[in-house]
Amino acid sequence: MPTTQETPTASPIGRKTPRIDGPLKVSGTAQYASDFHFPGMLYAVPVEATIANGRVEKLDTAAAEKMPGVRAIFHRANIGKIFRSALGNGMEGICIERRPPFDDDVVRYYGQYIALAVADTFEAAKGAADAVRVTYDKNKPNVENDLKADDDPAVIETTYGPEHRLESERGDADAAFASAPVKLDQTYVTPAETHNPIELQGATAIWDGSMLTLYEESQAIFNMRGVLAQMFGLPKENVRVITKFVGSGFGSKLWPWTHCPLAAAAARQLGKPVKLVLSRKMMFQTAGHRARTQQRVRLGATPEGKLVSLQHDYVYHRSMLDDYHENCGEATAFQYSVPNLRVKFGRAKRNIGSPSDMRGPGAVPGLYATESAMNELADQLKIDPVRLRVLNEPKIDESLGIPFSSRHYLECLELGAEKFGWSKRKPEVGSMKGDGLTLGWGMAGAAWVAARFAAEASVELRNDGTTRVACGTQDIGTGTYTILAQLASEKTGVPLDKVEVALGDTSLPEGPVSGGSMATASVVPAVFAAADNAITSLLTVATTTPGTPFEKRQPTDLAFEAGRVFVKADGPAGGTPFADLLKRANLRLVTGSGKSEMTFGEKKPKFSTHSFGCHFVEVTWQPEIARLRVNRVVTVIDAGRIINPLAGRNQIEGAVVMGIGMALLEHTTYDPQNGAPINSNLADYIVAVNADVPKLEVHFLDYPDKVLNQLGARGIGEIGLAGIAAAITAAVHHATGVRVRELPVKIEDLLTSSVLS
Ligand code: MOS
Repeated sequence: MPTTQETPTASPIGRKTPRIDGPLKVSGTAQYASDFHFPGMLYAVPVEATIANGRVEKLDTAAAEKMPGVRAIFHRANIGKIFRSALGNGMEGICIERRPPFDDDVVRYYGQYIALAVADTFEAAKGAADAVRVTYDKNKPNVENDLKADDDPAVIETTYGPEHRLESERGDADAAFASAPVKLDQTYVTPAETHNPIELQGATAIWDGSMLTLYEESQAIFNMRGVLAQMFGLPKENVRVITKFVGSGFGSKLWPWTHCPLAAAAARQLGKPVKLVLSRKMMFQTAGHRARTQQRVRLGATPEGKLVSLQHDYVYHRSMLDDYHENCGEATAFQYSVPNLRVKFGRAKRNIGSPSDMRGPGAVPGLYATESAMNELADQLKIDPVRLRVLNEPKIDESLGIPFSSRHYLECLELGAEKFGWSKRKPEVGSMKGDGLTLGWGMAGAAWVAARFAAEASVELRNDGTTRVACGTQDIGTGTYTILAQLASEKTGVPLDKVEVALGDTSLPEGPVSGGSMATASVVPAVFAAADNAITSLLTVATTTPGTPFEKRQPTDLAFEAGRVFVKADGPAGGTPFADLLKRANLRLVTGSGKSEMTFGEKKPKFSTHSFGCHFVEVTWQPEIARLRVNRVVTVIDAGRIINPLAGRNQIEGAVVMGIGMALLEHTTYDPQNGAPINSNLADYIVAVNADVPKLEVHFLDYPDKVLNQLGARGIGEIGLAGIAAAITAAVHHATGVRVRELPVKIEDLLTSSVLS
């Protein structure tokens, strides 16, 4: 069994590599988007609607306009033209809230921008925004929690294109459920959750004639360039987006929000750079959140534990404006073998800001529901929950009828159970004790899609022995700078400290979105091809430059390894460093470009490509004081080859921490009176912090998945959050006897616990 790597090797691939950008970050010299300052720069602060449903009747800007330092108060009448954008092909033109800001007087959610104050200082702009008087014609907002599907057609348009509401179907799920000897029919609810990256969103816009430059912390700079070009009626070459560092995003920074065109429009009207940074409160209103979901899961099984029917019917909320699709069924149709299955969804409109992708979108709430149902079925059947999963392991992806590229789910379960000590589990509720506390043990499985986005990259070999790799992707804190350096070092033999990495700028070769856990898998073939092409160029230089040892050779006689060129027949022992050859030829550098195609969303894939994993959780329960804590987590992940086990482990640990928050703490609550997210700050919106997090144990299986790329790397950003909430709620049930089917688990849910110590 090839378990966790860390074998010492000369190759930087698979080696624990500290972040190459770490020193810049800890010394405060890394420039995040809002750290860029320009002469004459002005500050913009939006005016937020304080109703969630109605119309702006009157905007009184007179007092605000007269305040010192104020340059303008923009609104519908004076912001200038902002166009809509449209979805293109591939990964182009993606935008969740399409309505240009200030497009009409209708207010559809609390916090919608209705005016914009621009001033010489942030303080003056904030004062002016607060001084704008707004009169509304207001109606009661609909922020109802109970979700019933709206009357939508069978095929709907979503942010990413058309979707069938009947997502997947095989056999006859209804009939098989009706005749199943064992049945489970439960509904699971996940609340709205809000992304809380430490770095706030914001944009700084600068115009130079018809050229627009935007500094923005984007997870997808090329998409942002395309959307902004459409909104200002420009060719996309006229827009440049720069994102050097991102203080995390969790999906909230994937697609442009309405503050971006507002900053650009204000800068256009005033002829000055304009900076607009959101407040934490605005982040809860106008920059996305994970949609609330209500998911009914019906399972039919034999008494031996073989699934005969699976139905997953879910509804999620969305705003009045968007078509964002929360794909809770993402993993349902392939995760287990079942002959009869139906996955179907509906949507419910509410007076809230648009939901959006949040770490593991769809699959994370989806797997909470389906994995919880599996755990409940196991209890009903009195079968060990690991065994129930083993009994229903599929041989192929039964939804598509194609093989998995690489699936080692059973090995994840086996290793996880062994590391956790699962065989010592006593199934009776409240039966396990440790240190005077009641223990609860639970587990759940995980899956997340693996694929590539299109990617282009360039690699230079330079005459000082350094290399530069460039790719217009982003590092959202996950370690992309370091991964690109490792890839370039692997191919060129240049040590990591002599590799320069350029990313986060649309003037670079077009790189992939930092999303869907796909950036790493996507850049591997592009960087490798670019390096190969740079080396090809070098070999031609070697054979055509007088005075080199290779002067009379053909490029095909030569090879390149570990930074040296040598004659194949002689072997790599001698060889000439590439820097020497370049100097001899009077070249500063040779360069190569490489690209790879998108596999994500392929119409007829040959393989079903996913990552897999599982979590085993121990909670402690003190009924006397109703204290519940997550005490121990063992996670096993099958995500192909792990390029950087240090960064990889960070990703899984971070996701498990977020999963503890998802299970026990996080929820965004909307005020039924005015529709406002009530807990829109980090004091009232509770996320898991150090004190909530126990020792986390992470194991990677290390099976390269060569369907994805030469190294066999899939992705690790999201899978750690899949399934963890179901494992925690199962452990909670095991400790307390209380089934919580609406997240997060609240102390008051547990006060009915029958388990007294
Ligand atoms: Mo992730 S939700 O694709 O940033």
